[in-house]
Amino acid sequence: MKVIAVNGSARKNFNTAKMLNSALGKAKELGCETELINLYDKPFKGCISCFACKLKNSKTNGLCAYKDDLRPILEKCLYADVIILGAPIYYDMPSGVSRSFLERLLFPIGSYHVNPDGTSRREIEKKIPIGFIYCMNCPEDYMDEVDYKTILKHQEGYANRIMGYAESLYCCNTYQFSDYSKYDFTLFTEEFKRKYRDEHFEIDLNNAKELVERLIKKANEFNCK
Ligand SMILES: Cc1cc2nc3c(=O)[nH]c(=O)nc-3n(C[C@H](O)[C@H](O)[C@H](O)COP(=O)(O)O)c2cc1C
Repeated sequence: MKVIAVNGSARKNFNTAKMLNSALGKAKELGCETELINLYDKPFKGCISCFACKLKNSKTNGLCAYKDDLRPILEKCLYADVIILGAPIYYDMPSGVSRSFLERLLFPIGSYHVNPDGTSRREIEKKIPIGFIYCMNCPEDYMDEVDYKTILKHQEGYANRIMGYAESLYCCNTYQFSDYSKYDFTLFTEEFKRKYRDEHFEIDLNNAKELVERLIKKANEFNCK
């Protein structure tokens, strides 16, 4: 079983990366092959609306037709059993790079055809459970106040329909800088951030392990059908 983690943050050693590495550590422990992909290493853009994947008799088989540095990564994702996409929240939305990746992953697998039972057709038979890990500066009560979960549910909904299964994990109140003394801020205090990190981040890392465990279980169920 192969688990791919995709980092939609430019930072390779901060919250999103740590959450993904925690999930991959657990996946390895469970005997899976793992790989971490840093999206910011690759020059790529989102979907260009070429609609090659929607042509009559299209042979793209769920893989984006546009040949660039992202395509081999998308191909790997189609061979994976579980995908985890880590994304920082930028202005209430998952980072642009993570969304560009998702456009290119989901659109070719999805279809404009409707099955007789009303469900949308998928261009591949295989179901690939996908987990989203969202990291954000705001504390949990603010996340609830601005209703991030409702905003982010749209992405989960599409992914659930197209990939076969999706779920989301939220990591709030992240410790954003390695040295707070260098930065200008009054919105929070370093003490507040440190206390929260010391009390909660371990729990978040553990939630990432539990997430991947559930996704692997789901993939096993799909493989047995
Ligand atoms: C351009 C930008 C926009 C941001 N917008 C938000 C936001 O709307 N809500 C929020 O809670 N945090 C926001 N943040 C904070 C990031 O989500 C936070 O720093 C997160 O930990 C980044 O992930 P990383 O630590 O893996 O890099 C923003 C950060 C940047 C750089």
